[in-house]
Amino acid sequence: MDTPLFFASRSRLYAFLYNFRFYGRLSRALVQHRKTTAGLATGKILELGPGTGANLRYYRKSVEVILLEINPYMIKSLVKKLPVSDYHSSAIRGTAETLPFKDCVFDSVVVTLALASMDRLNFALLEILRVMKKNGNLYFLEHVNAPDKRIRFLQKSIGKLWGFMTCGDKLNCNITEAIHTVGFDHINSNDIIIEGAFPFTKHAVIGSARK
Ligand SMILES: C[S@@+](CC[C@H](N)C(=O)[O-])C[C@H]1O[C@@H](n2cnc3c(N)ncnc32)[C@H](O)[C@@H]1O
Repeated sequence: MDTPLFFASRSRLYAFLYNFRFYGRLSRALVQHRKTTAGLATGKILELGPGTGANLRYYRKSVEVILLEINPYMIKSLVKKLPVSDYHSSAIRGTAETLPFKDCVFDSVVVTLALASMDRLNFALLEILRVMKKNGNLYFLEHVNAPDKRIRFLQKSIGKLWGFMTCGDKLNCNITEAIHTVGFDHINSNDIIIEGAFPFTKHAVIGSARK
């Protein structure tokens, strides 16, 4: 089991490495997906699990973005990248499962490659619903179970190690079903392949859902 010191070192290492994770082909492949999640969000936006800020450059001008991240070392990197003029943004430390906001305050919520890292996914989704305005939109992008049996076996075999290295990322969540179960409406989702990702992380779902 993790001691607090070991956990802190792991979180720090993950935050450091995350800055390099999306260079090259993977980074280019994700551009389109970030445009159709972060890039479509409007109004007052909450982003959960922003990591070191890979979505920042895709938000539209004149929106307001609040970024909530659990890993303090990710936040250190993130705040250095906050745009100063394009739109208003701020970063806070917190956990998606207990959001420090009143009910019905956000027009959009963005979560990319982070829902599957959350310890209690259903709590986080219920919190997202609570803080979203009526007709607000959730934009999501997540890894999913591969349709191919052999890759699913690989995902299962490597899952624990991957989760350990990534501070909790799970490869076999059924995100769309979880979103449906907590009560979102108008769910639009597409299965995609993320080019340049590992065989066990390239199967993903992208979409939006309305409150
Ligand atoms: C795989 S990274 C994704 C980063 C970024 N969203 C992206 O698209 O590249 C997952 C992020 O979610 C954060 N995270 C995990 N559980 C969380 C929680 N319960 N609340 C808030 N952030 C969380 C992690 O610290 C990490 O920064």
